[in-house]
Amino acid sequence: MKLSRVSVLLSVASVWALPAPKAQSSAPVNPLAASRASGSLRGSESLLGNNPSIPIPTEPSTVIPPGQFELAPGQTEDEQLGLYIDLSNVKNPQPIRGGSTGPTDPGPRTEAYDRLNSDLFIPPATDAGDAPNAKWPFGLSHNRHGLAGAGWARQQNVDQLPVATAMAGVNMRLSPNAYRELHWHKAGEWALMLNGSVRISAVNEHGQTFVDDVSAGDVWFFPAGIPHSIQAFENGCEFLLVFNDGEFSEDETFLVSELMERMPESVVAKNFRTSVQTFSKLPDGQLWIFPGTPAPKNISEQNVTGPAGVISKEAAYSYHFSQQEPYRVPGGSIKVLDPATFPIAKGFSAALVTVEPGAMREMHWHTTSDEWTYFLQGTARLTVYQAPASSRTFDFSAGDVGYVPVPNAHFLENTGSEPLIFLEVLQAAEYSDISVNQWLGLTPKQIVKDHLNVDEAFLDTLPKTEPFIVPGNRNLSTTDFTGT
Ligand SMILES: *[C@@H]1O[C@H](CO)[C@@H](O)[C@H](O)[C@H]1NC(C)=O
Ligand SMILES: *[C@@H]1O[C@H](CO)[C@@H](O)[C@H](O)[C@H]1NC(C)=O
Ligand SMILES: *[C@@H]1O[C@H](CO)[C@@H](O)[C@H](O)[C@H]1NC(C)=O
Ligand SMILES: *[C@@H]1O[C@H](CO)[C@@H](O)[C@H](O)[C@H]1NC(C)=O
Repeated sequence: MKLSRVSVLLSVASVWALPAPKAQSSAPVNPLAASRASGSLRGSESLLGNNPSIPIPTEPSTVIPPGQFELAPGQTEDEQLGLYIDLSNVKNPQPIRGGSTGPTDPGPRTEAYDRLNSDLFIPPATDAGDAPNAKWPFGLSHNRHGLAGAGWARQQNVDQLPVATAMAGVNMRLSPNAYRELHWHKAGEWALMLNGSVRISAVNEHGQTFVDDVSAGDVWFFPAGIPHSIQAFENGCEFLLVFNDGEFSEDETFLVSELMERMPESVVAKNFRTSVQTFSKLPDGQLWIFPGTPAPKNISEQNVTGPAGVISKEAAYSYHFSQQEPYRVPGGSIKVLDPATFPIAKGFSAALVTVEPGAMREMHWHTTSDEWTYFLQGTARLTVYQAPASSRTFDFSAGDVGYVPVPNAHFLENTGSEPLIFLEVLQAAEYSDISVNQWLGLTPKQIVKDHLNVDEAFLDTLPKTEPFIVPGNRNLSTTDFTGT
């Protein structure tokens, strides 16, 4: 059947905003609505399905011609190579790999996302299947502000990253002298100081006490149920918290102010053998993050001890990780902190990794734990391989969280021109992994050869110790993968 459709040119605005042509708007109009608005809320039934009298708009081609965009270095290389494509400075970035002229993206779009996530926008052709999302930027988290400009906190838990069931993260800021209110919670709290310094204190179930000052690069740990306080010094601070429960919420901690507010006043008075008047000036609602009076510089002034004394060195709640020398390898360095040297943080094993430009945290996996990752500096990409036959590549930059479920294989490649720094946190009694380099290096050559069809010369290069990091060419667009 030949349709006699009228061709008309419509602008974008007319497609989305203008009412349908008069001929179609025969629906009855609500008189109340008509008194305030023009047009009607719903269209005519005559718009349903095939209708030869509806005009087909003649629009320009949706294909973006080559003159209207730029290709980034590497974008024309074989899509199986999956080179990193840096879209940060190209005009009108397009999802093209492997020399083809398409498909282009006419929009709607927000280019900033595409530039930050080129491996989602233009996946390597090796990506396949349905690996779960592995990325959450704290920059997309709601930022809860404390009282009177005292600070803020934003979180990532299973609400933001559903695959992250074993760990959750919080990024917290305390203004000068501000407190994170005295509190406790169901999960264990592992923390890395990101900037500035704080005084932390706690009391354990034996009536032993702990107080310490920690600064950028240091770590603390408070086991589940242990009440603690955190107060910034005069320059303020920022830190990262990791909890051993993906459902942890910073909004659901147990607070000293609420403890008093939620008990009968008579009970509170009786508990402390005082009058109700003692607590007549309790704060109204949570303090959570609030301004404080400056902590005394001399820590001894806040060193309260009872008959049980102080918490022993072996059970200390802090570790001055900033003072630990990194283990240097070609292409970067790694610092490990796990219960071998920080015993109170049972089940928390971490590595702080620095990867030089062009280098890569090698292909590996963890045998018993998911990995929660935080990016402190630079940019990286990670491909996660999950059986059966799935892989997906994600791009990260400072302030992002990454998550890799056990025992998925992955790597982290530095995609920028400055050193990449990231933190890996595991729920494990020791920090460990299976290095693909070392695994194959310690497997009989004949077996590797029969599986992968590689030659003898290559087999001779496989290491018998774990490299952790492999150096690489700083030029990510080149196909010479042996240089630096
Ligand atoms: C802390 O923040 C200040 C202000 O932005 C910055 O100058 C400094 O380099 C930061 N320190 C660290 C250790 O990141
Ligand atoms: C606190 O006092 C105890 C002695 O009661 C001492 O052993 C401990 O080192 C002190 N701690 C600090 C941080 O000054
Ligand atoms: C710190 O305070 C303690 C106890 O108040 C005192 O004995 C010590 O002399 C002080 N140290 C300094 C350096 O002021
Ligand atoms: C990087 O390598 C590509 C491909 O070999 C080359 O075209 C490009 O000029 C190189 N870039 C730099 C900055 O050397």
